[in-house]
Amino acid sequence: MPELIESITRVVGSRGLLTGADTEPYSEDWRRLYHGRTPAVVRPATTQEVAEVVRVCAAANAPIVPQGGNTSMVGGATPDESGTQIVLSLARLNRIRDIDPTDLTLTIEAGVTLKAAQTAAAEADCLFPLSISSEGSAEIGGIVATNAGGNNTLRYGNARDLVLGLEVVLPDGQVWNGLRRLRKDNTGYCLRQLFVGSEGTLGVITAAVLKLVPRPRETEVALCAVSGPEAALNLFTRFQAHDPGAMQAFEYMSGTGMGFVLRHIPGAVLPLSQPAPAYVLVELATPRPDAGLRAALEQVLEAALTQEVVTDAAIAESEAQRTAMWRLREEHSEAQKQEGASVKNDVSVPVSKVPAFIRAATAACEKLIPGIRAVPFGHIGDGNIHFNLEQPEGSDGAWFLAQDHAIMDAVNEVVRQFDGSFSAEHGVGRLKPYLMAHWRGGAELDLMRRIKQAIDPGGIMNPGKVLP
Ligand code: MLT
Ligand code: ZN
Repeated sequence: MPELIESITRVVGSRGLLTGADTEPYSEDWRRLYHGRTPAVVRPATTQEVAEVVRVCAAANAPIVPQGGNTSMVGGATPDESGTQIVLSLARLNRIRDIDPTDLTLTIEAGVTLKAAQTAAAEADCLFPLSISSEGSAEIGGIVATNAGGNNTLRYGNARDLVLGLEVVLPDGQVWNGLRRLRKDNTGYCLRQLFVGSEGTLGVITAAVLKLVPRPRETEVALCAVSGPEAALNLFTRFQAHDPGAMQAFEYMSGTGMGFVLRHIPGAVLPLSQPAPAYVLVELATPRPDAGLRAALEQVLEAALTQEVVTDAAIAESEAQRTAMWRLREEHSEAQKQEGASVKNDVSVPVSKVPAFIRAATAACEKLIPGIRAVPFGHIGDGNIHFNLEQPEGSDGAWFLAQDHAIMDAVNEVVRQFDGSFSAEHGVGRLKPYLMAHWRGGAELDLMRRIKQAIDPGGIMNPGKVLP
């Protein structure tokens, strides 16, 4: 190990290396579920340095854990407890290489935060439309490597749909420069899509060409009170029928989750006359300055109120009010963390089945652990629900977390009945490889294993993640 660290230091210099106590923030995930150990956190500053570091590690057969903003929900960027896995932080690869408002492309390095990418796009009068709650810390490399989804998938797709090109350091240290910015390119296998969603198990993404869209000129946001997921879905179909092209986000929140936000998040205020069983946050946006979105929003909401699909609604009147409404949604994970121990299930089912899924999964969990508090929320317009479970009031948090597999199994049994997926947008990481065998068995898992073997025969890239 000392020789390896010495060779790595020769590549990145002492500025590019952290050891001892300095590695601790990189060895634990933000939810504090995994406490790994690493001999060193390597922080290269260029793609060439990344390639050189990977070459040195490959020669020593040393495992590498690529890490971006360390915001994984499934422990995808955390080293294990062996103390042998080198953490490769991409944070210093933080340059914007090019932005082109005509091509509508942003060529950007892996360590740029999502927020900084959005800001760069806005400065060029464009929008990079991927948006997630952790965007202040999450980095582009991780966003792409995990095929992140988020609030605007409904309109613009997942990370996968927004990537035109990639630069990747392969497990033998070769650099694959696939930074093309073509909308059409039909030349054999689509390699970039292999790396999108591979969660660091096939190589290290060092830069990407991302798609931009014209910046919205009109945006409307409303928070609606509804009686439950059935009414939320009804409202969704109304907006869809009215103008599907204008819907930027359509998010569901339960009364329980909103209660946690109002209790734990400083300054959070419900802009409605009273709490409701559930809520919807809808955002409409358009690049046209004269599209009359406000009138459209009011028309749909008025009809929904008259027909008692919506029981109350507030429309944001300013940017500050829009931000405050979004905060009620985006602080859901933080509020749950403060409320106590929680088990996350990031699942998807066909959109039409979300209400029945929420009812059935809630019943299954309540049967398993009386007093458990279901906190379903998220991207109902994508059929993607964060079916999170909070410990029963007054119970022991460690005891509750020890039930995580039993809870996940109970939820996933229902997901299976509804032809869904056990991981919609958070990935597989370290938390869920055990589910892969059961869900992606046979030819599918075999093919994935053969791809892994072909690209990373030494098995040094993010071992223990994704594949069982
Ligand atoms: C979100 O959409 O806020 C996160 O993906 C959800 C989570 O905490 O499970
Ligand atoms: Zn989400």
